Amino acid sequence: MIILAVESSCDETSVAIVKDAKEILSHIVLSQMDIHAIYGGVVPEIASRNHVLHMTRVFEQALVQADVKIRDIDLVAVTKGPGLIGSLLVGINAATSFAFAHGKKLIGVNHLIGHIYAANLEHEMKFPALALLVSGGHTELIYMKGHMEFQLLGTTMDDAVGEAYDKVARTLGLPYPGGPIVDQRATLGTDTYHLPRPYLDKKEFNFSFSGLKSAVINIVHNSEQRNEPVRIDDMCASFQASVLDVLIEKTRIAADHYQVKQIIVSGGVAANKGLRNRIFKEIPNYEIIIPSMKYCTDNAAMIGAAAYYTYQKEGALPNYLLGGYSTLSIEE
Ligand code: KG4
Ligand code: ZN
Repeated sequence: MIILAVESSCDETSVAIVKDAKEILSHIVLSQMDIHAIYGGVVPEIASRNHVLHMTRVFEQALVQADVKIRDIDLVAVTKGPGLIGSLLVGINAATSFAFAHGKKLIGVNHLIGHIYAANLEHEMKFPALALLVSGGHTELIYMKGHMEFQLLGTTMDDAVGEAYDKVARTLGLPYPGGPIVDQRATLGTDTYHLPRPYLDKKEFNFSFSGLKSAVINIVHNSEQRNEPVRIDDMCASFQASVLDVLIEKTRIAADHYQVKQIIVSGGVAANKGLRNRIFKEIPNYEIIIPSMKYCTDNAAMIGAAAYYTYQKEGALPNYLLGGYSTLSIEE
């Protein structure tokens, strides 16, 4: 089955052509990161306008790179949410128009399922599985009994972990997106600020990162008042140590509790080198799969992979009426 997949939920304009959820025939990702970096974060209206400007060209490039004829495409899939509504609608309109014009089947894909199924592109999922989904908008522990069966065990009560990374970076005067830079600077420092480990003592699978972010902001403000420099590398190392202690320990407890066969780590924050190094060492008794870095952050290949299984479960849409959802749960 050849699937043309479209992703435009945030600031990446991406189209991929994926065969049978495994073979990536083409994969184009156009990032708007440089444009939004000037503003210190994604500006929704600018993101939508740039999707409009580039979507057609990204479609064309994906088709040329895959070297497939339009008649060979079996299914068109597009992210339906969650995400920025304006951005989503650009992708949805492009995919719907393409499918309608060429008489192709169409489905909408949940972006969160996309992040999880990114792991299935290069590895084989084994069930029951536990997914740790960590991104700019989500921090979730999800139990999967089988393909496309999701039970949300815990989520963040406030900031998502990627969001906390970006806000901490901003407080420290580091550029957007902060995650990769904090991750890199953390390797140069040590955990000397001793920040809290939020929710680690709670017997539940929920997370909270806004208090940790505030702890960093308070230290920075107090240092400024005393005219003392903040040790940026040490602060990055301290923040990262705190985040990873919580993420890894909760994942370990959930894996033991649910007796899973595999742990899946996915989403933009799964690109974190500290997390990728530590989790294998600290949870050695489970098979852990993590997508390659390029499939962790937003991309259409993961939507193609999830589309294959979404189609097995739901079939194609009965008509070409597909809306976008700014919020959407993994269980919907
Ligand atoms: O999955 P994604 O591309 O978009 C959403 O669906 O949210 O995730 C983007 C998030 C940003 O907050 C970014 O700072 C974070 O992932 N991120 C990282 C790293 N690379 C990206 N966070 C920590 N360490 C990284 N290496
Ligand atoms: Zn995402």
